[in-house]
Amino acid sequence: MDLLNRPRRLRKNEALRRMVRETRMDKSSLIYPLFVMEGQGIEEEIPSMEGQYRYSIDRLPYELERLTKAGVRNLMLFGIPDHKDEVGSGAYDPDGIVQKALRAAKKEFPDLYYITDVCMCEYTSHGHCGVLCGHDVDNDATLPLLAKTALSHVEAGADMVAPSDMMDGRVMAIRECLDAGGHKDIPIMSYAVKFASAFYGPFREAAGSAPSFGDRKSYQMDFHNRREAMKEALADIDEGADIIMVKPAMSYLDLVSEISAVTDVPMAAYSVSGEYAMVKAAARMGWIDEERIVQEMAVAAYRAGAQIYITYYAKELAKYMDEGRIG
Ligand code: PBG
Repeated sequence: MDLLNRPRRLRKNEALRRMVRETRMDKSSLIYPLFVMEGQGIEEEIPSMEGQYRYSIDRLPYELERLTKAGVRNLMLFGIPDHKDEVGSGAYDPDGIVQKALRAAKKEFPDLYYITDVCMCEYTSHGHCGVLCGHDVDNDATLPLLAKTALSHVEAGADMVAPSDMMDGRVMAIRECLDAGGHKDIPIMSYAVKFASAFYGPFREAAGSAPSFGDRKSYQMDFHNRREAMKEALADIDEGADIIMVKPAMSYLDLVSEISAVTDVPMAAYSVSGEYAMVKAAARMGWIDEERIVQEMAVAAYRAGAQIYITYYAKELAKYMDEGRIG
């Protein structure tokens, strides 16, 4: 056969395949989500997320040590408070769980990069991501509380805040509040494109944040929509978001790709709890090769256009990279 074009030429061996690779990854782009809770001496495994734990503040340093050793320098903190109320006051309490954890962690591990999830669902008695008016989340009444939460995180040492509530206008409200508080340099990573997704199931068990009635469909996005995702991303960039996140990752890479093509901010993809739980469960059954699946999922997110990957597999991915099994 007289074929000029033979794509297989460049697939001949591992060295060549590595040389021509289009997607390369680095540990510095990984973010590890971490759950902190009140109490003492607690390091309890999350039943729906095998291998992931909730830590009390005194046990947090052990995990931060493991992250440091693995070379994962960025983490995203989620708080599990003891006390919940109608207005989620634990979220913006200067002595709330995240604020206390930040102060303690920063003291021992000042070189790690601390991002906080800014939301109210872990702190409200009804489990919704804002304050209620009747059975509906009141958008505008929630904004000052989110801003206050973000500011209190930053005052406790957060390096970056990541609002995940999906209220309209929250990026601007947070930006204005941080600026007024003298924190013009703190970036906002917006969960701009966050879908109402069944993939968050295990997280809600982990954080005890499932809504006590209804669902989140009046504020999180409808997963049938693609153009609306662009609208959300552009709106948040206009409001001052520094980084745009798409969440979940695996089933939404089309949006990572589209949004990264038309915007100029860094993009993050969040491989959420349901993705993690599915891989773990299938691996436990011996039905899939966990390491290879995790590698493929990560590479696909970067290939789609993400610069940042948020994953419960951050330590494992860092190890694979160190050992040259992925990169
Ligand atoms: C808080 C929040 C959620 C997740 C991140 N921030 C839960 C939700 O929106 O219900 C999900 C993360 C995951 O599933 O890993 N609003």
